[in-house]
Amino acid sequence: MSSAVNFKFHKIKGKLGLSSQNFVVFSLFKTLLISGLVLSVISMFFLSNPTCSNSAFFSPFAEKYFSSSSSSSVDTPTNLQHLAFGIQASEKTYHFRKPYIEAWWRPNETMGYVYLDKPPRGNLLPWSPKSPPYRINDDISKLIREVKPKNPTMPRMVHGISELFREEHEGIRWIVMGDDDSIFFVDNLVEVLSKYDHTKYYYIGYPSEHVMSNYWFSFNQAFGGSGIILSYPLAKALVKDMDRCLRTYGRLSSDLITESCLDDIGVNLTPNKGFHQIDLRGDLSGFLSSHPKDLVLSLHHVDKVYPYFPSMDRAKSTHHLMKAGNVDQSRLFQQTICYHRQNNWSFSIAWGYSAHIYEKTFPRKWLTMPIETFKPWRKGLSQPRYMFNVRRPSGDPCEAPHVFFFESMKKISSHEIITVYSRSASRNLTACVSSGNYSAEYITKIYVLSPATKRTEIHRSECCDVVRVEDTGKADVKFRECMTNEIIA
Ligand SMILES: *[C@@H]1O[C@H](CO)[C@@H](O)[C@H](O)[C@H]1NC(C)=O
Ligand SMILES: *[C@@H]1O[C@H](CO)[C@@H](O)[C@H](O)[C@H]1NC(C)=O
Ligand SMILES: *[C@@H]1O[C@H](CO)[C@@H](O)[C@H](O)[C@H]1NC(C)=O
Ligand SMILES: *[C@@H]1O[C@H](CO)[C@@H](O)[C@H](O)[C@H]1NC(C)=O
Repeated sequence: MSSAVNFKFHKIKGKLGLSSQNFVVFSLFKTLLISGLVLSVISMFFLSNPTCSNSAFFSPFAEKYFSSSSSSSVDTPTNLQHLAFGIQASEKTYHFRKPYIEAWWRPNETMGYVYLDKPPRGNLLPWSPKSPPYRINDDISKLIREVKPKNPTMPRMVHGISELFREEHEGIRWIVMGDDDSIFFVDNLVEVLSKYDHTKYYYIGYPSEHVMSNYWFSFNQAFGGSGIILSYPLAKALVKDMDRCLRTYGRLSSDLITESCLDDIGVNLTPNKGFHQIDLRGDLSGFLSSHPKDLVLSLHHVDKVYPYFPSMDRAKSTHHLMKAGNVDQSRLFQQTICYHRQNNWSFSIAWGYSAHIYEKTFPRKWLTMPIETFKPWRKGLSQPRYMFNVRRPSGDPCEAPHVFFFESMKKISSHEIITVYSRSASRNLTACVSSGNYSAEYITKIYVLSPATKRTEIHRSECCDVVRVEDTGKADVKFRECMTNEIIA
């Protein structure tokens, strides 16, 4: 199939609202239709019975297929082709941030553009086919001279919404604005957005983890780094008002400009957990290992934190994370907890990212509180620093986990995946005596067996069982749905 045809084909696929899964059904259907045709031709040939015409034979199929495609696209489930991404970048930053975007971008599946302040040069040429196509931001210098913003990139970023909107994108339901130092989890994004009515006005995002960022800017704004999502009709209304909007609010920070203009349309933020502004610094592992029980949608400030995996650089880390993320985003970072009774150990697994063993049985409530391995955005601030509770890293052998990071994965059958987590470093502590003195120091790898099916029931966590702990240093854990009335303790 030529690439042009391939591209169109994707468009059509999008128009019909066929997800990849549906598409398999559609292909099956096609096979059925063709075999039906062959069968009817054979039967006509042998029976030479013209009353059993082929049209009568497959008209029920044909009717069903065509009626579903011609019925209003409003009812079809939202899929990736209904989302248009606008990634705010600059020629300078894209040189080193390109790997972050290419880690999650799916060429010819995700739609949208990288917006640059000036044409790409040097290593950016020829433009990588693994990156979104680029566009150069409009010249709005006249407006900037008039408005005199402290930072001219602020109105430029908001104006980007208009620039994305004017691209021809048939069937677009949602506009997603993000930065080039953000990674998005597009399967989860589709899952979440499909629950909202895209024909209504929606402004979706989430405040920062850092209390003061919300205080400085707004508790009611979507942060551009973690993602600003506008339903198509709302984007249309905002674009229509863009000139007034920028003249009125253009001196504010960009996310606040957007919030202010949407406020004037009568729309407030619909907060949806899972967008992570990451106004945090340093070692994010404590935060990511106790991710709130919501689908992860984005991670911003890739450059401002240590690489997600201590043995890799940032570019490798983001790619490594997406190895798990491309297979099962519904479980990515989801924290699943179980206990090994014989040794009094707690296992806490953030799927696709990390696994912790504590040498003591701790309640879920305590384990789901992030360990403050990270630092707030700004130093020297008093409490409260974060929008969530934290526990301090501890040198107590009962409270300090043995830490393992995601190493590899394998789909072992059509319905099961194994993810492997390997020890990052020795804990350098004695064993926890009060719970029996059972050291976990010899454990080097944790194998986790999980279903290969997307998890949609995320109102309750999954459960797991520690199947065995081997003397060789390998532990096996198996995920399953929790039973009715099951208590995780
Ligand atoms: C995407 O499409 C372009 C042109 O339509 C084609 O050249 C390219 O190989 C495709 N890329 C992938 C990863 O499928
Ligand atoms: C334990 O000590 C080793 C050697 O000094 C070091 O590499 C490792 O990072 C330490 N582990 C922790 C958890 O600090
Ligand atoms: C587990 O720890 C508790 C105290 O935390 C202790 O009473 C119990 O004996 C321990 N169990 C084993 C098998 O050592
Ligand atoms: C705990 O186990 C270690 C190693 O087996 C042993 O040396 C130590 O004496 C034990 N501590 C207690 C209090 O039993």
